[in-house]
Amino acid sequence: MPLIEVKDVSLAYDTPAGRVQGVLGATFNMEESEFLCLVGPSGCGKSTLLNIIAGFLTPTGGEILIGGKKVSGHGMDRGVVFQDFAQLFPWRTALGNVAFGLEMKGIGKEEREEIALQQLKLVKLEKFANSYPHHLSGGMQQRVAIARALAYNPAVLLMDEPFAALDAMTRDDMQRLLADVWKTTGKTIIYVTHNVAEAVYLADRVIVMTPHPGTVKAEIPITLPRPRDPLSVEFLDHQKQLLNYLGQGTSKAA
Ligand SMILES: Nc1ncnc2c1ncn2[C@@H]1O[C@H](COP(=O)(O)OP(=O)(O)OP(=O)(O)O)[C@@H](O)[C@H]1O
Ligand SMILES: [Mg+2]
Repeated sequence: MPLIEVKDVSLAYDTPAGRVQGVLGATFNMEESEFLCLVGPSGCGKSTLLNIIAGFLTPTGGEILIGGKKVSGHGMDRGVVFQDFAQLFPWRTALGNVAFGLEMKGIGKEEREEIALQQLKLVKLEKFANSYPHHLSGGMQQRVAIARALAYNPAVLLMDEPFAALDAMTRDDMQRLLADVWKTTGKTIIYVTHNVAEAVYLADRVIVMTPHPGTVKAEIPITLPRPRDPLSVEFLDHQKQLLNYLGQGTSKAA
């Protein structure tokens, strides 16, 4: 049985100007420990779909099953990381942020600080455990957000363009770090991105969405060995293939 089943999921937003389709009939499955990237043009519904899987939004059609159980509302089986640096609690240190979910779970201070420190080590930030978010760079804040999401050991990590607001060099470093974190933890990850190179670097499989109102257009496995070389011919071929599906390639879309 797949870990996650997204079955014909639709969502329409009610707005003062009328109904706006957020996502339309998306269907795909996911295996445990898989790294899945969702790519598609702006406004196609990637964030909507991720927020439905997170349980922050309720679909108007279809359903999502995790471990065979229907998703209804947010639960601690799903950790979420957003693009926005402001997702951390500014009044808590890096350690305090990472320990937050463990506190919610009722884990005692000593144990949760030990676990939080391990998670900060995983994202190479143990030296900054006592720093507050405003003393950390954007990349460091995103690493704290990843550590925080992983700390309470969710079955699935959901990430919505977590590195999009970073400069290109920091983003490359973060992609390498995330690939290492995934290798170490074996987490099941759904990762939304605009960036096809990022998707080819990270994913086992890429789901390409159609333009708004978005649905699944193609599923493309990326079987390149890791660590991946973004300058290799095979890497560039995969990138070209994705761009073609997105209608941004130089040759006709498949
Ligand atoms: N809260 C909302 N209220 C009304 N419409 C919304 C809301 N959020 C998103 N939409 C609409 O739903 C559609 C999908 O939006 P969504 O944010 O999921 O797209 P996206 O693929 O994540 O885009 P981007 O790549 O720009 O982040 C868009 O047409 C958008 O205008
Ligand atoms: Mg979005």
